Amino acid sequence: AKKPAGVPAASPRPIGRVGVVGAGLMASQLALVFSQQLRVPVVISDVNQQRVDQALAYIAEQNAKQVRKGRLTQEQAEALTGLVSGSTDKSAYAEADFVIEAVFEELGVKKQVFAELEGIVSPETILATNTSSLSVTEMAADLQHPERVIGFHFFNPVQVMPLVEIARTARSADEPIATAFDLAASLRKTPVLTKDSTAFVVNRLLLRLMGQVQQAFDQGTDARTADQALKPLGLPMTPFELLAMVGLPVAQHVTESLHAAFGERFYVSKNLQTLIDHGVTEIWSQDAAGEHYIKDCTLQLMD
Ligand code: 3HC
Repeated sequence: AKKPAGVPAASPRPIGRVGVVGAGLMASQLALVFSQQLRVPVVISDVNQQRVDQALAYIAEQNAKQVRKGRLTQEQAEALTGLVSGSTDKSAYAEADFVIEAVFEELGVKKQVFAELEGIVSPETILATNTSSLSVTEMAADLQHPERVIGFHFFNPVQVMPLVEIARTARSADEPIATAFDLAASLRKTPVLTKDSTAFVVNRLLLRLMGQVQQAFDQGTDARTADQALKPLGLPMTPFELLAMVGLPVAQHVTESLHAAFGERFYVSKNLQTLIDHGVTEIWSQDAAGEHYIKDCTLQLMD
């Protein structure tokens, strides 16, 4: 196969143990995919033990699904599930060769995570961020070894989305970038090298599109109509389906980051904010006929 552009000549670092910081949806999916594809121990941690338990249950269930689909035996699924361990204790990352963080999308939180990790891991351990909208350079700025920090950005659902954006900062060394390309290949993903610039490449386009649909929504087009109108364009998911999958608060938060970086080019929906303020995190529900529809409250909340 043709080598992707931008792969450094440096030898990739062998990865015998992976750490995933956080236990939300993306973190759970990352731990699942790393363990399934690399077959190495994966350690996860979160400040909240309940979230860790949910992540481990998610991983067990996803492996069990592969048994139901006839792709794994029960024993194989259990062995894969057994590769992942979790706790609230970051010292579990001590032996990891590669740690990827997927914690809350807030620069201060991510900087703190990396600072803590530096006190635990070896100086060669690669520190990667799955950020969608923050500066990797800023995240690494105060570290002793910023040269091992890279962006490694996956898309939801990680199990099936083929792309990974590898973000290189001005300080990233060759070895972590070469390792990221090698890892992407082992994970059976398609890597692209991007500069460390807000939202890299994909989210700049995706969130522009989502913002325009949300603006129409704020101006009175109901979400279902917008989705029905856009379906014939052949998108794999309509905008509100995608929003439902990513989750309203996460999607809104990423849009706000892009708005902060690029201004009016990225539209932040007032209606969606009102929904979030009312504690609504899901925009779909099931009616008697089993059809999905947008909750009535979206319309009631419109100006
Ligand atoms: N979680 C896990 N696996 C899922 C899934 C989910 N939510 N949805 C579907 N799948 C799996 C199925 O199990 C199936 O797996 P299999 O082939 O191993 O059996 C496979 O995906 C295909 O499923 P279907 O045939 O039922 O579904 P589709 O053909 O509709 O494909 C899809 C599903 C790939 C998710 C497709 O709808 C799609 O590409 N949607 C767009 C997703 C997208 O744009 N993601 C980006 C979100 S933005 C982001 O992540 C960036 C962040 O920074 C904000």
